[in-house]
Amino acid sequence: MTSPTASKTSYVSRKASSFTESVIREMTREALKYGAVNLSQGFPDFSAPYDIKRRAMDAIDNDVNQYAITWGAKDFRDAIARKTQSYLGIEIDPEREITVTCGSTEGMIAAMMATVDPGEEVIVFEPFYENYAPDAILSDAQPRYVPLRAPDWNFDRDELRATFNKKTKAIIVCNPNNPTGKVFSRDEMEFIAGLCQEYDALCFTDEIYEHILYPRAGADIRHISMAQLDGMKERTVVVNSMSKTYSVTGWRVGYCIAPPEITGAIRKVHDFLTVGAAAPLQAAGAYALSLPQEYYETLQREYQARRDVLLPVLENSGFKTFVPDGAYYIMTDISQFGFSDDVEFTRHLIRDVGVACVPGSSFYSNPAYGMQQVRFCFCKKDETLNRAAERLSKLK
Ligand SMILES: Cc1ncc(COP(=O)(O)O)c(C=O)c1O
Repeated sequence: MTSPTASKTSYVSRKASSFTESVIREMTREALKYGAVNLSQGFPDFSAPYDIKRRAMDAIDNDVNQYAITWGAKDFRDAIARKTQSYLGIEIDPEREITVTCGSTEGMIAAMMATVDPGEEVIVFEPFYENYAPDAILSDAQPRYVPLRAPDWNFDRDELRATFNKKTKAIIVCNPNNPTGKVFSRDEMEFIAGLCQEYDALCFTDEIYEHILYPRAGADIRHISMAQLDGMKERTVVVNSMSKTYSVTGWRVGYCIAPPEITGAIRKVHDFLTVGAAAPLQAAGAYALSLPQEYYETLQREYQARRDVLLPVLENSGFKTFVPDGAYYIMTDISQFGFSDDVEFTRHLIRDVGVACVPGSSFYSNPAYGMQQVRFCFCKKDETLNRAAERLSKLK
């Protein structure tokens, strides 16, 4: 019997065909396959805090096992509002300005789908966290890239200004930045804010590393949220998550903070994408986001120690490192190893040396820009970092 319709060349949509699977997540699978120490994907291999886990277990035991309110359980939203007030000094209405999402991953794409129309442009600094490019494709945004240039990862202000135009709907600012470790200064943030206001554009800020900062003498390394700046709260979507701050990347609990009109749109998109984030984990989130300042100070100290273990290891193994001021990654330059590109080098590192990293090209719109860079993460136990150090010492 012949088919009533002509056969299709592919069942895959144009959108889904136009991006690849995540290179970062693929590196984790490669690391598992070859038994490599995994310094690729950014997730801790140490335990999450016991008391936070206990709250999740208690919630399940107490039958917090059904759908939470679509845009987030009230006690969790209240805790987010209190923490945002105490850490950033920003007053937000938990009833109208918060959407709890399945990680900041969902938060970012829901925010883009809720605000961007086809043909509108979204500015992205590059190198960028690799999700933003597929986010743009899936939400019909036209990405426009502006380079952050090594070694300081500064942007050229004239170049950024020239990229803004009447089609600009938004700019994405990942601060502290993955993969570079850059922490945007107040002056830089104010410059970006000025352009957003001049061009009536939104700002999506990915702030999931807000507590992971490395203060140093002679530099004012502090987290500034775009929503703190004058005239910006009304045009900013803050995207945040429990993943990194509480070492629970597998829980998939994040949130967006945005003005009421935008929140209304994000909530609708979120509802039909996922209905909601895991209810018992939101209950534990209400506890986690109420932890005292000391928790964040310890987190920061411990990450500083891990960073200071991995930096000399990489340098002594022949990498040129770009010292991060925030987040938990180290971008490196591999030109002195003499490999033709980052993918070939990464393959060698995983299969022959036994350490996994992420090829730099995955952070750029044009892979050529990242051909001599790779990224390592250091959100790992001391013993993991030591094992990596032992293997990397054989690299030269
Ligand atoms: C900058 C950035 N944003 C978002 C994510 C994903 O976060 P979540 O687990 O909250 O979805 C990551 C994870 O590595 C990240 O580095």
